[in-house]
Amino acid sequence: MDFNLSEEQLMIQQAARDFAQNELLPEVIERDRDQKFPTEQVKKMGEMGLLGMMVDPKYGGAGMDSVSYVLAMEEIAKIDASAAVVMSVNNSLVCAGLEKFASEEQKVKYLTPLASGKVIGAFALSEPEAGSDATSQKTTAEDKGDYYLLNGIKNWITNGGTASYYIVIAQTDPEKKHKGINAFIVERGWEGFEVGVKEDKLGIRGSDTHSLIFNNVKVPKENRIGEDGFGFNFAMAVLNGGRIGIASQALGIASGAYELALKYAKTRKAFKTEIINHQAIAFKLADMATQITAARMLCFKAAAEKDAGKDISESGAMAKLYASQVAMDTTIEAVQIHGGYGYVKEYHVERLMRDAKITQIYEGTSEIQKIVISRSIAK
Ligand code: CAA
Repeated sequence: MDFNLSEEQLMIQQAARDFAQNELLPEVIERDRDQKFPTEQVKKMGEMGLLGMMVDPKYGGAGMDSVSYVLAMEEIAKIDASAAVVMSVNNSLVCAGLEKFASEEQKVKYLTPLASGKVIGAFALSEPEAGSDATSQKTTAEDKGDYYLLNGIKNWITNGGTASYYIVIAQTDPEKKHKGINAFIVERGWEGFEVGVKEDKLGIRGSDTHSLIFNNVKVPKENRIGEDGFGFNFAMAVLNGGRIGIASQALGIASGAYELALKYAKTRKAFKTEIINHQAIAFKLADMATQITAARMLCFKAAAEKDAGKDISESGAMAKLYASQVAMDTTIEAVQIHGGYGYVKEYHVERLMRDAKITQIYEGTSEIQKIVISRSIAK
């Protein structure tokens, strides 16, 4: 087993680290305060190849491996978890799903601008009454011959207000349960499609999360992804990879908080010595470093298995379950180590603590990850 990163992987990691320091760190506090989407920064991320990292260059992607993706995601999320979720959804849910399952025409028309970062995409599965129980879709797509008529509401859609293209999951035949679900590519601007309210969130406030309203939207037949009835399996397959992205985002949030806490503990003095010399603080940092390393290994394992073409439902779920818990634990301890300074915006750790929570909720809650893992090990 080789634990060394390749030259190329190290270069990508460094490029993402430099970008995060130079372009994301300035004004990250203001974007969080004002719920401001990092428009310019996301555009530059597209130019750097960070929005279609694993897509074949013939479709506008950067053609990199998934371990490089984990490395880049960690560096971006360390500084700005909001920019990281924009990157994760575009790469893992939208581009990966299209590259693997879309038709050649769909790839040329939609994947190419998405992977090259000219536009961004969104993935619309969740509904007001269908989050964890994803088969209970209320959004319907009625087959009208040449087109489907789409009606319904989607909730909590990342990139909802900024995307140009949306992958929308809808029920086409309720009798068939999950086999009566399809996935469609829907363009912003189509008649009857309206972007709804923007959520006022606890964390990842620089990302935009909206509801989507479909009122008799005509979706051409050629915009269905895959065979009739493939939509639920499509969503599940895509989410397996998405969970590596969110696990890496959680890893970045944790390692960002840890680095800040370590630096602070080495300089802040109490009782005539730097606080790292107090065992109460040193042991917290030791736990953080150990847990972060373990989370990183789980992310690498899932990423390497994805690149090897293996089933990643279990390893992706394990990476997300563990890394999101580490993000929560680490950020809480980073605030504690900072004491009163940790509770104010300027020191970044309170933001990271707020950002961490969502990693235990979206792309499958921690409880859903345990369902996926337990079913896999029981097989
Ligand atoms: N990988 C591949 N296929 C899977 C799968 C997985 N992890 N989990 C289920 N499936 C397949 C099954 O094999 C089955 O297919 P077949 O009938 O063809 O064999 C089909 O899906 C139905 O499976 P189940 O009977 O197990 O379905 P279920 O109703 O019990 O649900 C679940 C399974 C795992 C709970 C699923 O509903 C789930 O993952 N729920 C969570 C949904 C989720 O993650 N939502 C996140 C929203 S997206 C988001 O957050 C994006 C964002 O903006 C950041």
